[in-house]
Amino acid sequence: MSNISIIVAIAENNAIGINNNLLCHLPEDLKRFKQITSGHKIIMGKITYFTLPKRPLPNRTNVVLTNIQGEIIEGCQMAYSIDDVLKICNEEESFIIGGGSVYRQFLPIANKLYLTKIHHKFEADTYFSDINFDEWETISESDIFTDEKSGIAYSFVDYKRK
Ligand SMILES: NC(=O)c1ccc[n+]([C@@H]2O[C@H](COP(=O)([O-])OP(=O)(O)OC[C@H]3O[C@@H](n4cnc5c(N)ncnc54)[C@H](OP(=O)(O)O)[C@@H]3O)[C@@H](O)[C@H]2O)c1
Repeated sequence: MSNISIIVAIAENNAIGINNNLLCHLPEDLKRFKQITSGHKIIMGKITYFTLPKRPLPNRTNVVLTNIQGEIIEGCQMAYSIDDVLKICNEEESFIIGGGSVYRQFLPIANKLYLTKIHHKFEADTYFSDINFDEWETISESDIFTDEKSGIAYSFVDYKRK
């Protein structure tokens, strides 16, 4: 069983991003992301890395995937394949933080999902794969909250692989 977890904010239509951006700004979601991932390894594709407002993200080992062998990004650990990521991720829980292409590759081997369900449909150009919820057991589910500024409703649901 892997110790790879996925953390993602998904809209009702499985949308996760547009124009190399998140779909909406949910401060409470960002807080939760920070709380869950701090002190751990976070693994991301190179596109997602360059969307981060502050990079590398502090208090976490930032692992960046690229196919460009030998490319180095200062302050990051580089991975040039899924195998590299698996070697970097040892017994400790590590987090796949996006984007679409990286989620797709790691969903089959992830053992935990930390979902932020955005109760809204968005126009998008990046989507999460369909999740077969028969394979996942709910560990915890929050109430539905509403973001004060945007009025967007969201909830947090964590799953582990059955
Ligand atoms: N809603 C959320 O929670 C969330 C979270 C994160 C990101 N996002 C969104 O997702 C979108 C970006 O996703 P994306 O799919 O376009 O890009 P991405 O997955 O962030 O990055 C893709 C890049 O990662 C590298 N890569 C991926 N798999 C690899 C592998 N197996 N081996 C080596 N390198 C690999 C490649 O880099 P090279 O081209 O350098 O080879 C590839 O071009 C943005 O809109 C972002 O805002 C949403």
